Amino acid sequence: MSGGSSFRQSKQSRGRSVFPHPLQFGAILLILLPNFFPSLFSPLGRSYLSLFSEWIAPRPMHLHLLNGALQHPSSAEQESDLWSPLPNQGRKPCAAQNNPSLPKKSLGYIQVFLDGGLNQQRMGICDAVAVAKILNATLIIPYLDINAVWQDSSSFEDIFDIDHFIQTLRDDVSIIKELPSDFSWSTRGYYATGIRETRIKTAPVHASATWYLENVLPVMQSHGIVAVAPFSHRLTFDGLPSDIQHLRCKVNFQALVYVPHIRTLGDLIVSRLRSSPSMDGTSTSMYQRGNDKPGVGKYVVLHLRFDKDMAAHSACDFGGGKAEKLALAKYRQVLWQGRVVKSQFTDEELRNEGRCPLTPEEIGLLLTALGFNNSTRLYLASYKVYGGEARISTLRDLFPLMEDKRSLASPEELAGVEGKASLLAAVDYHVSMQSDIFISASPGNMHNALVGHRAFKNLKTIRPNLRLLGKLFVNESMEWSEFRQAVLHGHRNRQGQLQIRKTNQSIYTYPAPDCMCPA
Ligand SMILES: *[C@@H]1O[C@H](CO)[C@@H](O)[C@H](O)[C@H]1NC(C)=O
Ligand SMILES: *[C@@H]1O[C@H](CO)[C@@H](O)[C@H](O)[C@H]1NC(C)=O
Ligand SMILES: *[C@@H]1O[C@H](CO)[C@@H](O)[C@H](O)[C@H]1NC(C)=O
Ligand SMILES: *[C@@H]1O[C@H](CO)[C@@H](O)[C@H](O)[C@H]1NC(C)=O
Ligand SMILES: *[C@@H]1O[C@H](CO)[C@@H](O)[C@H](O)[C@H]1NC(C)=O
Repeated sequence: MSGGSSFRQSKQSRGRSVFPHPLQFGAILLILLPNFFPSLFSPLGRSYLSLFSEWIAPRPMHLHLLNGALQHPSSAEQESDLWSPLPNQGRKPCAAQNNPSLPKKSLGYIQVFLDGGLNQQRMGICDAVAVAKILNATLIIPYLDINAVWQDSSSFEDIFDIDHFIQTLRDDVSIIKELPSDFSWSTRGYYATGIRETRIKTAPVHASATWYLENVLPVMQSHGIVAVAPFSHRLTFDGLPSDIQHLRCKVNFQALVYVPHIRTLGDLIVSRLRSSPSMDGTSTSMYQRGNDKPGVGKYVVLHLRFDKDMAAHSACDFGGGKAEKLALAKYRQVLWQGRVVKSQFTDEELRNEGRCPLTPEEIGLLLTALGFNNSTRLYLASYKVYGGEARISTLRDLFPLMEDKRSLASPEELAGVEGKASLLAAVDYHVSMQSDIFISASPGNMHNALVGHRAFKNLKTIRPNLRLLGKLFVNESMEWSEFRQAVLHGHRNRQGQLQIRKTNQSIYTYPAPDCMCPA
């Protein structure tokens, strides 16, 4: 492809909402350049290049820092405790309460239909078990709705080990896979096609136990069954008896495990990550070598969520020039009809407030400042990155040993999960739980789920200080050494130190103190 043809193609696509991908040529060129011709990136060189910013793909936004990061990699002594596990923090998972408390008689059946992606559904499953317990009901295995964004029709049974789930909770709540034939009319389709007496549609967000006893129990008792939908986020985190809180954690951290083929694939990926890196630079050779002996190497998981939805909604500038700005503005217009409050603010205002998601480049700078270097194995847990490989390539320059499920497993090995967003997310979740260090670039359901699960196991998790980073990134006169000092200082207490849950916060993100007792 020549530069000329990519220019023509992108001119045609200007104004359409799709991002013109022929631009990757421009990006690869630009990202390689600073290493070889730093002088091109003097202020003069930059303004010359910015003439073309309508058609170049996402380019590095912080060249002064990037050059510093490439020229001054961290040395060993600066990161002596970077990889060390967290010390004991004085709490451990609360002991199981040894009084089996299955109600003598079930008062009826309860059914829930769960929307959202995998991690939102996970929280919904935990809450459904808790509500069934509050009502002394029998729970039908939750039904997972097909999400408009993720488009995955996988059922509970396709994702989670259903027998382990039922078995683990057998002394707490009775759970069945399917309704008895008398109630087989109570389906997703039945509730979608009319107003039904057995459906509760009005559960408030964070409803209390009393609300369920007053509004759901009577319906269940008079009909023998009740369906609650929508159900996501419909159970409070506060003011519940401690046995209900423990039960929620038991579901999340013990009862919910992925089906064997997902765990096997995840373990395979982990063993390849831990085995010695392939120094020939072609990571694809790794699975062909057949070297699946368990290794001892350490790795970091980076959860990178940078999809178009999120980029557009943040209303920030991500360095893709005018074409990208227009594309994102158009996307906002179509999806939210201008109801994006953030678009009233300037990019600088948003950054100063820490309200812009970190780009792959910014994550690379953060990780380098923290002490990771080009011998760090980085696993990218990600669905899709807006801007594609062009936007990731700066990160790859800093971390050439970056891998993901497709670089570490063959198409045959991935066949069972390919094209299924929930199963792919489950594999990433599994690999993330095994990692020495986890860092998430953006708050969201996956971030929250892993922060909580890793806190429960006292595993190291870096939480980027977005407000600090935003301020540092807008300051164009910041030297690399100053940036690094500020980053190190601002992240001392954000590496997995246990945080105690505050009112209204999620028990699944902050399992202490409810589920983690003094050691
Ligand atoms: C990268 O960091 C490791 C410690 O994690 C250190 O042993 C190694 O020397 C560093 N590599 C470079 C090129 O500085
Ligand atoms: C559920 O059963 C327990 C004991 O098995 C009882 O204490 C509680 O009151 C029952 N709850 C309801 C809503 O009936
Ligand atoms: C890592 O960085 C060091 C020092 O900058 C350099 O000598 C080495 O070649 C780099 N290694 C890789 C694999 O890029
Ligand atoms: C930008 O960074 C420089 C160097 O650290 C510092 O002196 C200056 O105060 C910073 N500017 C702002 C607006 O924070
Ligand atoms: C918790 O949330 C409720 C409802 O949104 C709100 O009224 C209350 O003030 C919040 N409490 C705290 C401590 O944030």
